[in-house]
This record gives sequence, C-alpha cells and structure tokens, in this order.
Amino acid sequence: MQVKLKLIAAASENMGIGINGELPWRLKKEMDFFTRMTTTTKDSNKQNAVIMGRRTWECIPKKYKPLANRINMVLSSQSLDYGEDVVVCKSLPDMIEKLSQSPLNDKIEQVWVIGGSSIYKISMESPNFYRLYLTRVKKHFKCDTFFPEFPDNFVLVKDSEVPEGIQEEKGIQYEYEVYEREN
Ligand SMILES: NC(=O)c1ccc[n+]([C@@H]2O[C@H](COP(=O)([O-])OP(=O)(O)OC[C@H]3O[C@@H](n4cnc5c(N)ncnc54)[C@H](OP(=O)(O)O)[C@@H]3O)[C@@H](O)[C@H]2O)c1
Repeated sequence: MQVKLKLIAAASENMGIGINGELPWRLKKEMDFFTRMTTTTKDSNKQNAVIMGRRTWECIPKKYKPLANRINMVLSSQSLDYGEDVVVCKSLPDMIEKLSQSPLNDKIEQVWVIGGSSIYKISMESPNFYRLYLTRVKKHFKCDTFFPEFPDNFVLVKDSEVPEGIQEEKGIQYEYEVYEREN
C-alpha cells in the first residue's frame, strides 16, 4: 500500500479547531462522522491508522484511548511510551516509512491524520497528502488552536461517503467539504 494521507478536521468560521485542550463545540453527529470515516474499512481483516500530535493524544479522554478499532500513532519529539498498542514516532517521514513497511503496511487500509494544527500543516505539505475532509462549522467560536493557513491550490471534490448539504445540530449549522490538491 502506498501511504496516502487523508486529513480530517472540523473548523469554525474563524478557522478555530480547539480551546483549552478540547473541541470548542459538542456536535454528536459530527463526532459520529469522524468515527465512521476513520474506522470503516472495506477489508474486514484490516484497520485504519490515525495519526495525531502528542497534544491531541493527551486531549482524548482516558476512556476513549487508544481510539477503538484503529491503529493509533502519535507524533512527538520525545521518547514516549503509551503502551504497546500505540506507535510513537519522532517525525512524519519516520511515520510514513513505518506505515510503508511490514508489518504495519499489511494490516492498514487507510491513513487518517486527525490533528492538531502543526500536524495538519506538515501533512498538507507532504508528498503523501491525498485529501482533506473539512467540516465547516458555520459559527464563530473562541479558540486558542487554529487550522493552519489554507493552501491556495486546494479544490473541492465530491466524495460519496460524505453527506451533502447543510447539517444542523443544537442550532449550529455545519457542512462537510472534501479537498484535493490541484495538480
Ligand atoms: N477540530 C478538530 O478537528 C481538532 C482535531 C484535533 C485536535 N483538535 C484540538 O486541537 C488542540 C490540540 O492540537 P495542537 O495543535 O495544540 O497540538 P498537536 O498538533 O496535537 O500536538 C502538538 C505536539 O505534536 C508534536 N509534534 C508536532 N509537530 C511534530 C513533528 N513535526 N514531529 C514530531 N512531533 C511533532 C509535538 O509534541 P512534543 O511536544 O511531545 O514534541 C507538539 O508539541 C486541542 O484543543 C484539540 O481538541 C481539534
């Protein structure tokens, strides 16, 4: 399998993604979408990988860690041990190298980058970037963590896995968008 990075993020109108180590909103169906997209595989013998920065890992409540039915991979400059089920790497190229080789390569179907900010940035710049699944939350939220500068050469594409049109929960509207890099 050639490693193709799929990024998944939700950002507010002001491109905020987090505050105080948490999401700025509670949108259950949006979270279910994240879980479905990052977990579902066509081959039942395989799992997807989820790549995240050390702070995003720390933000996940203990009871949900590691994220179920996915190979959890954490980027950190430190030598950290989160148990034998969690792969820790010191750089994205190291992680991609690991994903390209046996035994991981044989058991992984898709590779999802789930944040945070700097991990999205390096993944969008990576030659292995494939797609960005971005939920546009149509409201301004106070945030301390933001999605990186949006590349000029990204174009909207269709994806049959993604619900179309405006979604709404708790009076908050949002829309799923999918981007690829224009060649
Ligand atoms: N809305 C969304 O879709 C979404 C998604 C994810 C997260 N979030 C939110 O975003 C916040 C957390 O994200 P964040 O941006 O603060 O942190 P983050 O990107 O998750 O983690 C940053 C850490 O990752 C490591 N790292 C970063 N770049 C690296 C590289 N090139 N090589 C190796 N390690 C690297 C470093 O760990 P060390 O310091 O250990 O070296 C760095 O401190 C939370 O509020 C969370 O809820 C929102």
